[in-house]
Amino acid sequence: AVLENPTASQPAVQQTASLKQRELTILYGSETGNAQSVAKDLEEKAKARDKKVKLAALDDFKPKDLKKVQDLMIVTATHGEGDPPDNAISFHEFLHSRKAPKLQDVRFSVLSLGDESYEFFCQTGKDFDKRLEELGGERLYGRVDCDVDFDEPAAEWVEGVLSELEKDDVGTGAENSSVDQLDPSLTAGQPIYSRTNPFNAEVLDNINLNGEGSNKETHHLELSLEGSNLAYEPGDSVGIFPKNDPELVESFIGQMNWDPEESVPINKQGEVRSLREALLSNFEITRITKPLLKKAADLFNNDELTAFLSPEKEEEQKTYMDGRDLLDLVKDFPPKDMEPADLIQILRKMPARLYSITSSYQANPEEVHLAIGKVSYHSNGRDRSGVCSGQCAERVEPGETLPIYIQKNENFKFPMNGETPAIMVGPGTGVAPFRSYLEELEELEVEAKTWLFFGDQHFTTDFLYQVEWQNWLKNGVLTKMDVAFSRDTKEKVYVQDQMRKNSAELYKWVQEGANIYVCGDEKKMAQDVHDTLLDIFQKEGNMSAEQANDLLKEMRQQKRYQRDVY
Ligand code: 2AM
Repeated sequence: AVLENPTASQPAVQQTASLKQRELTILYGSETGNAQSVAKDLEEKAKARDKKVKLAALDDFKPKDLKKVQDLMIVTATHGEGDPPDNAISFHEFLHSRKAPKLQDVRFSVLSLGDESYEFFCQTGKDFDKRLEELGGERLYGRVDCDVDFDEPAAEWVEGVLSELEKDDVGTGAENSSVDQLDPSLTAGQPIYSRTNPFNAEVLDNINLNGEGSNKETHHLELSLEGSNLAYEPGDSVGIFPKNDPELVESFIGQMNWDPEESVPINKQGEVRSLREALLSNFEITRITKPLLKKAADLFNNDELTAFLSPEKEEEQKTYMDGRDLLDLVKDFPPKDMEPADLIQILRKMPARLYSITSSYQANPEEVHLAIGKVSYHSNGRDRSGVCSGQCAERVEPGETLPIYIQKNENFKFPMNGETPAIMVGPGTGVAPFRSYLEELEELEVEAKTWLFFGDQHFTTDFLYQVEWQNWLKNGVLTKMDVAFSRDTKEKVYVQDQMRKNSAELYKWVQEGANIYVCGDEKKMAQDVHDTLLDIFQKEGNMSAEQANDLLKEMRQQKRYQRDVY
């Protein structure tokens, strides 16, 4: 998915102002923090090369400053159906409006992060890239679109941009400026744990929070951070690198008639592992994406698969990919003369799964707690479960370790000033960050107004952390709580129904300066909650639909309306 570098045919940016003194503006639109971390990496490396650099989230950047921008690098994720992430919406809108200035003297490059299994893969990055060119900008370095295993292509983009910028220094003497060559993962002998260098956290406890007879299985996992130097705040997440189901790996290797002990390369650096270990830990084998299907067609030497990939079969391909894994693929389209190392070449690296933290670091130093909902479904004749949630539910015992890292989330931050009330909407495992926040408020003895909306299927089996909410209601850490158990009554009740019922009071809280937090399912719940907020604003504030929309938009920009949805 790496596009060629199209600098050659572009008109050169005016050479009058010394290129070396140009300021580099790096903007990011981040969903989970990955885009932000790549942007930060570029910032640090550019600074080390004596560049003047400005780094900001896209929505913290004032549109009117766009006129002053010189070199503009955008790193952005894409949301669900090709939409910009929350913190890129306003900039995206501005850039595509008539108000956007001409960018004749601007050089730019775009890095987009995405997931190739989505139809609108990397759409936001593509939008920015196209629009910056339309506005007259010069593409300094070709856009790179990354799949979920973005490390290598993102690093290549960073290096590519830097080497283009470096060309400005020729003849100024700046090319000799020394760059710090310290290994970033080591400081004074203490390792720094991160996504690229995960910490092996010991599992201290693993409890199913749902009662007997529930449709759900939510695992409360307690992990030790001892010796890691890792810390976090309410709203942050933990990334876990999971392992595939050993049964699936064995079946797959058996189906291929391969030797599980055969060595295969697991990265470009030439590191090797046994085939079994590689398929367990290093590669994704549970999803079929379009690019994987194409590469498989090149590799499998199977005429049926080649025929299946013809463009007019697009709809059939989509249906096929849904709910099938690599074992299905090699059973349906047996490869001829394929070597393990060839297969490894076409697989995606195993991506980490992110879970919102449910504990307070202040209250549990050296520990982090998660609430992980098990994903399970039946498709194409087999019971299947989510890679990470299935592992945590079925195969993780106290005493074992999991490779993890902390993912900061700047877009989900709670007030600790004791003045700003918080309205929190979190059905199901979406309640996790709110437990973290209340635990933190209690530990630090901060008194604040808090209101929690929780929902799940059944009161008796699915009331996650019930005793804790009740204690916090008693001691005042939680001011108010409304619950919606959807399957205990004939008519379904959802969190948004409870919000509607409390419409006047909810609006009053908003007028008093409350922040609104929504965590959990994106497609249905978060959208319905969003629409409900608009209705409440209209009704209680006597607003038109447009005014309500503007208010919620303004709240989003002021970070008074924050979402962590998935
Ligand atoms: P349901 O499964 O009975 O439909 C947590 O999963 C809770 O969120 C469940 O009670 C679930 O109800 C509910 N839920 C499902 N769709 C929802 C929606 N669109 N808005 C709010 N809650 C929803």
